[in-house]
Amino acid sequence: MVISMDLGHLENTFLPIESRIKTGSDVIFAWYGRYQQAKALGEPAINGTVGSLLEDDGTLAVNKVVMDTIRGQSDLNLSAYAPLAGLPQFKRLAAELAVGPRLASLNDIGLHSGAVATPGGTGALYLSARTMLAVGDSILFRSSRWSPYDTLASECGLTISEWPILSNIEEGHPKVALNVLEEELGKLAKSQERVLAWLNDPAHNPTGLSLDSAGRELILDAFIDCAISNPNVGVTLFLDTAYAVYADEPYGWSETIHQKFSWANWPENLLICWGFSASKSHTIYGMRCGAIVFLHPSEDYVNRLGEVCAVTGRGTWSLAPRLPQSTLVDIHNDELLASSWGDEKGRLKKLLSERRSLFNKKMAESEIPLMPSDDGYFAFIPCDDPVSLAEKAAESHLYVVPLKGGIRIGLCSIGFDNIVRATDILKESWVSVVG
Ligand SMILES: Cc1ncc(COP(=O)(O)O)c(C=O)c1O
Repeated sequence: MVISMDLGHLENTFLPIESRIKTGSDVIFAWYGRYQQAKALGEPAINGTVGSLLEDDGTLAVNKVVMDTIRGQSDLNLSAYAPLAGLPQFKRLAAELAVGPRLASLNDIGLHSGAVATPGGTGALYLSARTMLAVGDSILFRSSRWSPYDTLASECGLTISEWPILSNIEEGHPKVALNVLEEELGKLAKSQERVLAWLNDPAHNPTGLSLDSAGRELILDAFIDCAISNPNVGVTLFLDTAYAVYADEPYGWSETIHQKFSWANWPENLLICWGFSASKSHTIYGMRCGAIVFLHPSEDYVNRLGEVCAVTGRGTWSLAPRLPQSTLVDIHNDELLASSWGDEKGRLKKLLSERRSLFNKKMAESEIPLMPSDDGYFAFIPCDDPVSLAEKAAESHLYVVPLKGGIRIGLCSIGFDNIVRATDILKESWVSVVG
């Protein structure tokens, strides 16, 4: 016998309030679905929706060296668990890949690094949120961000504090709203025992914005000042470098940190972390390979952080997959493989740069207020009614993603030959929706 059931009643019966507030068909996948439908109906649809790099012919771009090395892995690496914190060689490699060639010089000036393997860069973000703040604390984000940041904060019981992604005052650095950053850091340091900020740079998602060395130094100084003025507060700057290898300065933060601490003292209550992600750098999005990397003058403390994060990982996803870890180790332990990986990565970066320079050039011919789009996968047009703008573009067969405060254009998924048509559609849609 089938009786009709009230969904609200069932939810109330089974789910606590923390679960009932969760909703979410992912907007990115929803718009990607519309693109696919249009394509299947034979429309000349342009795909500006997905967050994966596609070749100009629309197929997924994969770094062949990585694929071949995965296929050559031993049964042990295919089948066995990895150690809870990751394969030891992978942990060292993850620090090298995240921090870059400056790692050795940073170690030379007395800074210690350590890492814990995670399922993707998302796992690293989660570990920092879950272990470096207490439930009920606030985490500091920029105003424009990858939307899972909000989900991760909520899953970890954190509220969100914000500072703007661009400065709106004439003087100072155009990409660093320094006064608000300092103010927010000060407020957090006064109201809670620890401060944690995530900064997605370079090649920010969803804008493509990258900071220059002057901007990085201003931000680093703000965190150092916050640590010095609040010696009892733990201050953590987490650098989310998920798209770094496709930026002109992939390891800019390490340069800035090295320059600063070659002469200045590191306040012991300051910690810098990197979120390493192999999803884009090695084109293994679904393999879930990443790491949280720590940098601090105390080796013992770095080791202790590794232990804490491994326990959190154990109680959340158990451990990170072994196969991609051993694959990366094999690639980067072999000069020939590493250089072939680098060549292919360079080719993919060139694809993105060529699309972006044409896109930026065409957009600059209009009045549309494109956000600075320097590197990586995306560009972003701020507007008050993103859904109408995305709908208008879709009428002319360009599919983009309406997000909070604007539309995201996936330069990673639009083939070079479609860039000019995409910019023409954006210009027409803008005039029709905004005026
Ligand atoms: C800004 C940002 N950070 C981190 C990630 C983490 O990616 P993954 O967990 O696949 O490594 C992504 C992926 O899209 C991202 O866009």
